Amino acid sequence: MGSRLSAFWNHKRVLVTGGAGFLGSFVVERLIREGVAPARIAVPRSREMDLRNWADCVKAVHGVDIVIHLAARVGGIGFNRKFPGTLFYDNAIMGIQLTEAARRENVEKFVTVGTVCAYPKFTPVPFREEDLWNGYPEETNAPYGIAKKALLAMAQAYRQQYDMNVIYLLPVNLYGPKDNFDLDSSHVIPALLRRYLEAVHEGKDEVILWGTGSASREFLYVEDAAEGILLAAKEYDKPAPVNLGSGQEITIKDLASLVAELTAYRGKTRWDTTKPDGQPRRCLDTTRAKKEFGFQAKVELREGLRKTIEWYKEAHHGATGKSGCS
Ligand SMILES: NC(=O)c1ccc[n+]([C@@H]2O[C@H](COP(=O)([O-])OP(=O)(O)OC[C@H]3O[C@@H](n4cnc5c(N)ncnc54)[C@H](OP(=O)(O)O)[C@@H]3O)[C@@H](O)[C@H]2O)c1
Repeated sequence: MGSRLSAFWNHKRVLVTGGAGFLGSFVVERLIREGVAPARIAVPRSREMDLRNWADCVKAVHGVDIVIHLAARVGGIGFNRKFPGTLFYDNAIMGIQLTEAARRENVEKFVTVGTVCAYPKFTPVPFREEDLWNGYPEETNAPYGIAKKALLAMAQAYRQQYDMNVIYLLPVNLYGPKDNFDLDSSHVIPALLRRYLEAVHEGKDEVILWGTGSASREFLYVEDAAEGILLAAKEYDKPAPVNLGSGQEITIKDLASLVAELTAYRGKTRWDTTKPDGQPRRCLDTTRAKKEFGFQAKVELREGLRKTIEWYKEAHHGATGKSGCS
């Protein structure tokens, strides 16, 4: 796929907002592998350019050909319950202002990265893009999901009125090396990995997990997601949103068993059913991404988990940063 992408990126100046984050760092790495000179890739950090400010958005898009908008405030279920206002405001305002600034700058292409959390709570599985507006999202991640979904309406409106080339992608839950392992804000996979690895390390014989374990999720390895985003940036120029996923559904209970096996945890797992499960089921229909720009996930869950565990063991013995929805 390297050569399919490379010619397109030649001579392009690319802005990757959130490019120092979990997904962003893989997108930047991939752009460099495609031959884009690091000097042509701008990665604004929030401490220098706060994209909630209009002037910083204008500065960020100046002289840019392509924008990949990944900057966001994101977190797992606990974070979503604690900071719904921040999640709504920051994600809406960053996306709205950056899109408008990019329009005024005549940016050639704008890639908005949304989220699976935008789907209605009871979407028929697998989630098809046509069902996106057929109901309210699961309550705990609704402010985050709706703020991001508003950017889809904006993308389509700007294409219609201004002929601006904005595309909109909907990645499922991501995981992989460099993920956020802070238990206050992490997603399900890093949270599980950390709990089991710590239990093994400390010789504990019980791990307590949130919910009933009956909810299901789908996971996409972060390098696959980065490849999907760059393929779409190059090959997809239509208003309809596109799911990015692996198409593989797994219950949280089965995922926990798999993580326990891969971390060599031998104790018990207890479910704290006073805590919420989040959305009951999640799994995307991935046919549109395959048809429109030939994207198909490559990394199997077991292999991706193994790589993530390896990375964590080598690099990461404490708590860190940040991370989308539950
Ligand atoms: N992780 C997932 O499972 C998942 C799933 C679906 C969709 N997504 C989407 O993928 C994108 C990346 O997610 P991620 O997990 O990689 O998140 P992340 O690691 O938290 O990275 C987000 C980045 O956004 C930047 N940012 C936040 N507020 C900002 C502000 N006010 N101004 C400028 N930059 C700001 C941060 O930059 P600094 O580091 O400089 O502060 C941070 O590095 C997001 O749009 C998210 O909604 C993620």
